[in-house]
This record gives sequence, structure tokens and C-alpha cells, in this order.
Amino acid sequence: MALKIGVLISGRGSNLKALLDASAAANHPFKIVHVISNVAVAAGLEFARAHNVPASLVDHRAYADRTDFDAAMDAALRKAGVEFVCMAGFMRILTDGFVEGWRDRMVNIHPSLLPAFKGRHPQRQALEAGVRETGCTVHYVRPAMDSGPVIARAKVPVFQGDDEAALSARILEAEHRLYPLALELVATGDVAVRGEEVVFSDRAMRALGH
Ligand code: GRF
Repeated sequence: MALKIGVLISGRGSNLKALLDASAAANHPFKIVHVISNVAVAAGLEFARAHNVPASLVDHRAYADRTDFDAAMDAALRKAGVEFVCMAGFMRILTDGFVEGWRDRMVNIHPSLLPAFKGRHPQRQALEAGVRETGCTVHYVRPAMDSGPVIARAKVPVFQGDDEAALSARILEAEHRLYPLALELVATGDVAVRGEEVVFSDRAMRALGH
């Protein structure tokens, strides 16, 4: 049985697309059963619907506070039978209650080599810091933003003359390879988390180049 995935988005949805493309393969170990966007005009929402993936808008502005908003998302995910949540460009801070409710069953992708460059505009932060290398990270989600046990990282070079757009595009290509791979390894049980430690099977170590 494929692991039932819910994806949280706020915008473009290119990582959602990468996950959907991967899951279209025969006998793939994960299946996206629901997409939630907090933004009505998110391109990813349209994309999901166009591909017959059940998708709902949970507009944060319609709720009194973060707790109510998160409760609405939680209810939608559980109603859809979601077993595991992927954040993919989801731009709202989640309450500790929501995060704890999906503890060890929620991952995020961030466009830096965490713990470097947490928060907003990590690509701009990398350029300003003058690093020669940055990348992306898939990690289990913990209450503190952009923290949590790391599943996988992919390195991306920074070239002279890069601007934020060029660097972001290069990182995004790496994201589109890394996220489906990391999630596949979670879905097959080749990656698991025990406490704050991620445990890898031999297959996962090979696949991730560890
Ligand atoms: C990605 O760079 C992701 O790492 C970050 O937000 C961006 C989302 O892009 N969290 P997309 O919506 O998946 O195209």
C-alpha cells in the first residue's frame, strides 16, 4: 500500500509537480491524496486540480488565529486519509500543536544547506554571505522554523555573477530531484526517525550518497 501523502503549498508548486511526477510511476511507494493551499491563486492548486488530485483552499485570512487555521488544515488532511505531510513552499508558520500532531510524519524542503540560512530568502542570504556552495535540505519538521532531523541535502555551486533568480533556479532543479527521492525512501521505510536521529538503511545510504 502506497503511503498517503498530503502536500501543503502557497504558490508555484513546482516541488508538488516533482512529487506528483514521481508518484505516477507504477507501484510507487507514495501517493498524493490531497493538496492544501492557503492562497487561492496558487498555481500549484490549479495544477493539482488539473491532474485530478483532490485539493482544497484553506485561506488563513478566514480564521481568527493560527490555531483555528491549523485546525482546519488538520481536519482536511485527516478527512482525506493523509498519513504523511509534505510542506512544499508553504509560507505560513505552523503552530506547535499542529507540528506535534504530525510529529515524525511531516517533512519540509528548504533551499539552503541547513542549518545555514534559515528563514526567508535563503538564496539571497547565501549570495550576501559570499559562499561558493549552497543547496537544499529535506528535513523532518519540528516546532522551531527550518529545524528538525535532516534526511538529505543536495549541494549546488554558487557561480560568480549569480543573482538571486539564477541561484534559486539552480537550487530548484536540485530540489526536484532530492524531494521525491527522500520521500520515496521514507515511504519504503528505508529512512526513519528515532527521536532526533534519522536512521538510514543501506539502500538509503547508497541512494543518498552517504
Ligand atoms: C522552494 O524553493 C522550496 O524549497 C521553498 O519554497 C520554494 C517553493 O517552490 N520552501 P515551489 O512552490 O515548490 O515551486
